[in-house]
Order: sequence, then C-alpha cells, then structure tokens
Amino acid sequence: MSQNVRLAVYPRKGGPESITVIEGELGPLAPDHIRIDVHYAGINFADLMMRLGLYGAAPPFPFTPGYEVSGTIIEIGKDVRNRSVGDRVVAMTRYGGYTTIIDVLPDQSFILGPSMKLEAAAAMPVTYATAHHMLVHLGRIREGDTVLVHHAAGGVGTAVAQIAKAKGAEMIIGTSSAQKKEFVESMGMHHISRGDDFVALCHELTNGRGVDHALDPVGGNHLLKSYKALAKGGKLYTFGGSSAVPGQRRNILAALWMWWRFPRFDPLRMMNSNKAVFGVHLGTWDKEEIMQDQMKELVKMQKDGLIEPVVDSIFPLADVAKAHTHMHQRKNKGKILLDCRY
Ligand SMILES: NC(=O)c1ccc[n+]([C@@H]2O[C@H](COP(=O)([O-])OP(=O)(O)OC[C@H]3O[C@@H](n4cnc5c(N)ncnc54)[C@H](OP(=O)(O)O)[C@@H]3O)[C@@H](O)[C@H]2O)c1
Repeated sequence: MSQNVRLAVYPRKGGPESITVIEGELGPLAPDHIRIDVHYAGINFADLMMRLGLYGAAPPFPFTPGYEVSGTIIEIGKDVRNRSVGDRVVAMTRYGGYTTIIDVLPDQSFILGPSMKLEAAAAMPVTYATAHHMLVHLGRIREGDTVLVHHAAGGVGTAVAQIAKAKGAEMIIGTSSAQKKEFVESMGMHHISRGDDFVALCHELTNGRGVDHALDPVGGNHLLKSYKALAKGGKLYTFGGSSAVPGQRRNILAALWMWWRFPRFDPLRMMNSNKAVFGVHLGTWDKEEIMQDQMKELVKMQKDGLIEPVVDSIFPLADVAKAHTHMHQRKNKGKILLDCRY
C-alpha cells in the first residue's frame, strides 16, 4: 500500500534555513522490509556537516538526512518472519531518518524492551555505538583506566561518560564550553573548559601519567594536543573534525585549515612511546555482525540500568532548522531529537 509521508530534505549545500520539509509518497512495501511509523529521529553533528557539504560519506544532494529513528512497526513485508506489526523498535537508517514513515530491513532494527522509552531509543544508536566502538571494541577499556573526551556535554560525550563509568574507568575528564561545567560534572566527569590547557591539566589530574584513552572529534592540531595528553600505552581516537565548522555557514577555508593542521604521526615516535592512534568513522564501518553485537550489548546495558541516553531537547519535524541552529550554537547538553509526529 502507498503511504503519504512528510520529510525534511537538503536541496543543496546551505545553512539551517535551506532545509525544506515536503510532502511525499512512499510506494508499496518491499517483501523483505518493515515499515516504521517514526516517532523520533536523532540529530547528529554529522548531519550539520553533510548539509554544509563537508562530509565525504554523504549522498549527493538533494537527500534526506537521518541516521536513526525510533517508532512502531505499521506493516511487515510478506517475507519477514521475525518482526510484527505493533513492535516498538529503534532502527539505524544510514540517511533518510528525518521523516514520518520509513522502510528498513528487519536487521537494521532492534525490538525495544518495555523499560526503553522511544525518546531514549532514538538518542542511542549513533552516539552510543560510536562511544562503544572506541572504548570497548577498539580500546578494550579496563577497570582503573582514565579517559579524556572532548565535547563532553554532547551526544557522544555523555555516552562516553556512561560507558566508561560502566566499564570501571577511574577518571573521566571532559572538555566543553565553560557554561556546561555543572552538567559535565553531574555526568561524573572532571570538567575542563574549552580553550584551557587540557594537556597540562590531564597530566596534573593523573599525577603526571597522562590518560589511557583520548577521544578527539575536533581535528586539526587539536588532535596532536590530545595525543600529548596520553599516558604511555595510551590510545588516541580521531573521530571528527568539528573545527571545520566554525559557524552556521559553509566555510571552506576553516575546513582546509583543519585538514592542513592535522598531524602526521611519526611511527618511530609512536613505537617508542607505545601509543596508538585509531581512525573511527561509523558511517563507513560496515562490519554488520560486530555492529549488531555492539547494539545488543548496548540495549542490555540500558536494560541493566548502566546507561541511559540524555535527551537535551525535542523539536517538531517542522522546526528542524531550529534544531540544527540549537546545535550550531553549542547549546545542547545531551542529544537533540526531532518529533516526527508534528
Ligand atoms: N566518526 C564517527 O563515527 C562519529 C560518530 C558520531 C559523532 N562523531 C563526531 O563526534 C562529535 C560529537 O557529535 P555529536 O553528534 O554527539 O554532537 P554533540 O556533541 O551533541 O553537539 C555538538 C557539540 O559539539 C561542540 N562543538 C564543537 N565545535 C562545534 C562547532 N563548530 N559547532 C557546534 N558545536 C560545536 C559543542 O559543545 P562544546 O562547545 O560544549 O564543546 C556542541 O554542543 C562531532 O564532531 C561528530 O562529528 C563522529
């Protein structure tokens, strides 16, 4: 059966005002797909970068962004056996999530337990999978480890704090804009204000040792500073380039400046200091079976009360531009969601 939908579209590169919400029609459901009535869609920093044309892995314009949704299954394809109409699910959509209704393969979705609210579910996939991927899958975090994370008050930052704590980290240090100090501390982190000398402060807080894990989404020469904050045997994760986005408009000079200032690590120095550097990009990570296991563990951790997504704000789909502006203005503490029913 065809279905009317409402969806947000990026027609071309532009600021938040360029996003257009349009009406459309979804054709009949494919036999191997499920159809989800989307309640909430998650907003990620990558969505902003895609809109500005600064995200290599994005589809060509025009397209609908959105990596993750939560909602209720309203139809199942005739070949689908392991899902039912009425199931509450969270799904990883890899684009297209800013919409009222979406079709996905059953394996892209996870059935939610009764304790999981749909809001919390939509706030989980990207941020928690990224945090889990770095700390657990790549980093093998151990009890007593110390962690440094930047943009600590944001979606990934709060997920890192909760997962690191659940895995027994001794100390989690988080940098953010100064006005989020109280919030960052309430998440169990030591707060350092953006712009302060975090390398010196990390060494001070760890009695000169440095941190075991440094998670850097800023890029450019900031990455080298994060490397310097590491202890011997420490691991650096490079997972973003937020410094390429100084404002709401595309700024190609800032992007080039960031890229130019990315450090080129010397393998001999890395060898001598026993340090590792991991590159992390969930958008191009295609080991589906590992991702499935990661999501299953995350769902279990939520059920066990070890993690709980922090939702900053929920904007109606019609106000998607305001939601993006909110993130550009660095106002969010936790995750921003779209309510796709409005
Ligand atoms: N590689 C991957 O697979 C992957 C996956 C997910 C996310 N990421 C990266 O992780 C970072 C966090 O992502 P998120 O979705 O969780 O976003 P977020 O942290 O919830 O929101 C953005 C926050 O980043 C900080 N920020 C730094 N520079 C900014 C800028 N130029 N404009 C606006 N905000 C800026 C602000 O906090 P403060 O000012 O308080 O620092 C802001 O509140 C991003 O760099 C993103 O690209 C990477």
